[in-house]
Amino acid sequence: MAIDLFSILSFLFFFLLSLYLYLHFIASSKKANKKPGFKRYPIVGTLPDFLRNRHRFLDWSTEVLSNCPTNSAVFWRPGKVHGIITANPSNVEHILKTKFENYPKGASFITRLQDFLGRGIFNSDAELWKVQRKTASYEFNTKSLRNFIMQNTSWNALLLTTFVSSLSMSTQGCLGGDGTTGNTEFMKAFEDATTLSCGRFMYPSPFLGRVKKYLSVGSERKLKDSIKIVHEFADNIIKSRMEQKVEKEDDLLSRFIATDENSPEFLRDIIISFILAGRDTTSSALSWFFWLLSSKPEVKQNILKELDKIQVRNSKKLGETYSLDELRDMHYLHAAISEAMRLYPPVPVDTKACLTDDILPDGTFVGKGWFVTYHTYAMGRMERIWGKNCSEFLPERWLENNGVCKQESPFRFPVFHAGPRMCLGKDMAYIQMKSIAAAVIERFEMDVESKDKVPEHLLSLTLRMKDGLSVKVKERCVGEIDLGTIV
Ligand code: HEM
Repeated sequence: MAIDLFSILSFLFFFLLSLYLYLHFIASSKKANKKPGFKRYPIVGTLPDFLRNRHRFLDWSTEVLSNCPTNSAVFWRPGKVHGIITANPSNVEHILKTKFENYPKGASFITRLQDFLGRGIFNSDAELWKVQRKTASYEFNTKSLRNFIMQNTSWNALLLTTFVSSLSMSTQGCLGGDGTTGNTEFMKAFEDATTLSCGRFMYPSPFLGRVKKYLSVGSERKLKDSIKIVHEFADNIIKSRMEQKVEKEDDLLSRFIATDENSPEFLRDIIISFILAGRDTTSSALSWFFWLLSSKPEVKQNILKELDKIQVRNSKKLGETYSLDELRDMHYLHAAISEAMRLYPPVPVDTKACLTDDILPDGTFVGKGWFVTYHTYAMGRMERIWGKNCSEFLPERWLENNGVCKQESPFRFPVFHAGPRMCLGKDMAYIQMKSIAAAVIERFEMDVESKDKVPEHLLSLTLRMKDGLSVKVKERCVGEIDLGTIV
């Protein structure tokens, strides 16, 4: 009899507990459905919606942020993945500049990318970052920009060149055939390593990621193999450079080699960060630019008119390389490229860690140890920043009445980051992209396949087009040639 009573009571207890949890779950889901921000369920937090939407993370999170009163939302997943995602310019200024010291990259970010990037400039904080920033910054001045243009006289070379001269021809697959004159195995491995490292941020929980890495299975196995190829390639360059006596610090790598304290492993990390910085960003920007241009013939006409004016003014022949000053004079082209990057920023999201509890300017609380992501892709699509026509590709929004391209606040347009860690290669990137775009547009008619369909993107560390951009290229007045795919 006693046992029966115990069983009935136990049954009742578990029944009531389950009912309570069920009702609580339903009530919270309903409440969550009404509240702006990421839906948060008991125990599992944002995880169910994250798993449902992670294949379209950028668009999903943009929709959520645009419905939030200050364009910021709390994100919570099990495994202490707790943070804020924001598309609010005042918050961006606070994180990247005002409270810079409180928002480093942080251990969680650095650990995930460490296998691939080591402690290169993209993946370091504090002293390690400072010393790389200081050494590298000598290379990014007007003299270097002029040299850069002098050294890259053909448009094809411009497509393929990066700043570290030893790597130049093998790191920039942009246009044509396999897109490179160098090591295709390395190129493929570099792309895989970038995408798979970024995939580590998309695991349902950090614990699962650690287990997969420990067992070296699935994507972790593939990542390990790609990293091995990338490292071997970079090691060989360093070895051969160190064997040649570096007499002059005439490029970035020699400048770092000249500092005797740098080990070969650290030099390798430095190189890999710079390949990532200089190769993947500009090629991503140009792919989206050419796609956007394909359905805007009037924008292309305006670019051609601008080029024609410069050619007439300076008595230039078609195909002659533009000088730095001429490239700087291309305000409309500058505006068109900026507008493409507003909608498709090469680095679409960027994450920092919060060191001590803080309140962001929009009133959002951020706890110690939380991550803070500023969402550049979403910011380009916020009505509050760019007005009702924010989703239109409209280079004119960048132009002053006198045709000069406006300087936008880096906190409203953080495409090149902002504050002390602002991109070192911004001027170089614009110069390179303008040279390539001008050379291509004035010589070729580009016919983009399925121009009315937004190309699928691949969320890697940069925003890549999933299968590249298929184009048919017709040389103006000369027969048709097919230059293949821009990737
Ligand atoms: C369209 C082209 C480019 C875009 C959109 C871009 C964007 C960015 C962004 C968002 C960051 C910050 C990333 C972070 O938080 O770690 C960054 C950093 C950096 N970029 Fe660029 N970048 C471009 C081209 C270049 C080029 C061509 C170079 C030079 C070869 C370069 C060199 C760097 C370096 C060295 C940093 C690290 C700065 C630091 O941490 O102090 N970038 N860039």
